[in-house]
Amino acid sequence: MQLIKANSNQLADIVQLVNHAYRGAGWTSEAELISGQRVDLETLQDIADNGNTIVFAATDNREALLGCVSLSPADKGEWYLSMLAVNPAIQENGKGKAILAAAEIYAREHGATSVKISVIQQRDSLIAWYERRGYRRTGAIKPFPYDDPSVGTPLRGDLTLVSLSKPL
Ligand SMILES: CC(C)(COP(=O)(O)OP(=O)(O)OC[C@H]1O[C@@H](n2cnc3c(N)ncnc32)[C@H](O)[C@@H]1OP(=O)(O)O)[C@@H](O)C(=O)NCCC(=O)NCCS
Repeated sequence: MQLIKANSNQLADIVQLVNHAYRGAGWTSEAELISGQRVDLETLQDIADNGNTIVFAATDNREALLGCVSLSPADKGEWYLSMLAVNPAIQENGKGKAILAAAEIYAREHGATSVKISVIQQRDSLIAWYERRGYRRTGAIKPFPYDDPSVGTPLRGDLTLVSLSKPL
């Protein structure tokens, strides 16, 4: 597995993979909590172009897309990690751990001292997965962006986001 900065030709496949992993199949799918798309191509293109966030494609040695992740440098060496996803057909096989570890190495080599993530509080098995990777709840809780239709349609009214962080 290699983690490379995604080029614009890969963004459509990344959108498809992210939406399938978050809102379709897979052992951590959030389809019971939110329907619709996690991201659309226009939004991902904007994210990739904004100059602050790096979108990575994880590929095999034939350049097939296995998964993705994004990193945003922030103040005081605290980087934000988001959109970690693995093609559901090859989940539960160590790919998610490998992509996360590679993203953490990239962040550390580029000045990060910690990585922060934001996870829907109701996703217990996913939070446990991050905790086994060394992430700890910071205590910060944010409201789910109910007013942002670009992240899908929430299926319940009590969704909140918890913040987790890991020192590098
Ligand atoms: C979260 C995600 C990236 C994990 O990737 P993955 O390739 O499936 O995970 P890995 O194979 O690397 O991890 C395997 C670990 O999960 C555990 N696991 C696998 N299937 C499981 C299941 N059905 N229930 C609970 N734990 C499970 C394994 O036992 C193993 O445990 P370990 O942590 O003790 O080693 C992937 O499921 C995904 O794309 N989810 C959808 C997108 C998403 O929600 N991203 C995170 C946003 S914050």
